[in-house]
Amino acid sequence: THPRLEPSLSGPRIVPVLVLDEPDTAVALAEALVAGGLTTLEVTLRTPAALACAEAIAARVPGALVGLGTLIRPEQFAQARDAGARFVVSPGLTDRLAEAAKTAGLPYLPGIATVAEALIAMEHGFRELKFFPAMLNGGAPALRGMAPLMPEIRFCPTGGLKAEHVKEILSLPNVFALGGTWLTPADAVKERRWSEIERLAREASALAQG
Ligand code: 3PG
Repeated sequence: THPRLEPSLSGPRIVPVLVLDEPDTAVALAEALVAGGLTTLEVTLRTPAALACAEAIAARVPGALVGLGTLIRPEQFAQARDAGARFVVSPGLTDRLAEAAKTAGLPYLPGIATVAEALIAMEHGFRELKFFPAMLNGGAPALRGMAPLMPEIRFCPTGGLKAEHVKEILSLPNVFALGGTWLTPADAVKERRWSEIERLAREASALAQG
């Protein structure tokens, strides 16, 4: 079976989703999140510097468990592994991504938005799925509805989530974590307001544990 993220998930079950432009800033941001208690971080492959930023965090931020997200091409599995990623995430699943995932040896969360897509991911052998975009596709009620249909599937919903959704969604039996960009507002990152990010991370950590 495919390697899983859940057993090695580090810290509270909340994964900041990061869009990063430059490694030194990435390291400072990751340090603020880790200081606030959030240690599992997803760096999205949406910027030219994403791989370099993930590599810098993996090498320089003790306690961070770094993965790469927004993976949309099969060759990106090898690039993620070379950058030191410990898990990978994609917004959707294709046959070629499924094939590449099987040889990558990394925990992989393929994105699904519908029951049919979840069934296809199951046929490929994946049991941990990203539910995306979660709020557009029904949020907590949709996850609750899928639980009895496919009890062995564990979800990490992302997309449109905010602090106010954390408690309800993490209480669902088929959710092992959730993620989002709300923890790292673009203006706060740009202005290097690290204490604000640390505070947001600490508040989210408390929600996840409380
Ligand atoms: C993701 O890739 O998981 C999403 O972009 C996160 O969605 P959000 O920006 O709505 O939090």
